Amino acid sequence: MGVARRRAMHQILDRPKVFDDPLALRIAGELPERPEGVFGKNLRAFVAARSRFAEDHLALAISRGVRQYVVLGAGLDTYAYRSAPGVRVFEVDHRATQEWKRERLRDAGIAIPSSMRFVPVDFERQRLGEELVKAGFEQEQPAFFSWLGVIMYVTLDAAAGTLRFIASLGPGSGVVFDYASEAWEPLARRVARAGEPFRLFFEPAELARLLVGLGFGELENLDCDGINARYFSGREDGLCVAGGRAYLIAAWV
Ligand SMILES: C[S@@+](CC[C@H](N)C(=O)[O-])C[C@H]1O[C@@H](n2cnc3c(N)ncnc32)[C@H](O)[C@@H]1O
Repeated sequence: MGVARRRAMHQILDRPKVFDDPLALRIAGELPERPEGVFGKNLRAFVAARSRFAEDHLALAISRGVRQYVVLGAGLDTYAYRSAPGVRVFEVDHRATQEWKRERLRDAGIAIPSSMRFVPVDFERQRLGEELVKAGFEQEQPAFFSWLGVIMYVTLDAAAGTLRFIASLGPGSGVVFDYASEAWEPLARRVARAGEPFRLFFEPAELARLLVGLGFGELENLDCDGINARYFSGREDGLCVAGGRAYLIAAWV
């Protein structure tokens, strides 16, 4: 809900928008009235930029013929409900989160398209590939994955297992995710208080070694300066990412 609200606030507060999501406000529901401080504004920028980065790369994958999109740890992501025709979307998340999302979709009057499948998976306990195939995912076809705001919550085993599965798919497959090399305060304190602490961090070079070792070829890594140069340059409202050693990465098989 926290990130969905930030995407929704981005639709209202920021011009030009970095990430245009016509369903963001409907799915988020009521927004907090108190104004955000600098930290909140930077975090909103990061949340908008990572969704934009994911959907920019998804568009590239689709232009190259990919027709399966897997949204890992989907939360209240809305791509499936405004997706390109012909693209099958698989939303992977905890079963409980998916039940809550269905209620939110119903309350917001957002229909679930027939091209979309909910796939309940706990990355720590279940094999992603097996569960996807049960839901109709075609393992011999390439697929694009996003994994936004999740890797910092899982164990290294779960992260590597998921990335290994993606790397095992055919050429043209790829994944986008965000990660951090150290805890981003005060966000880290906030999520720890909520019982879901950040626990997995990577230095960029260490992550690149892991990804190449798993079988990924082309990598594109953006640090905060790179994100600002790509998505926030020339603005008059000062919206930018800052203050955290956070990164976006795209990895292609
Ligand atoms: C911060 S939210 C990000 C949601 C969404 N990707 C976005 O950007 O709006 C983290 C998501 O990861 C999911 N998640 C965290 N740990 C998980 C696990 N072990 N297995 C499955 N999902 C998990 C949560 O249920 C939640 O939907």
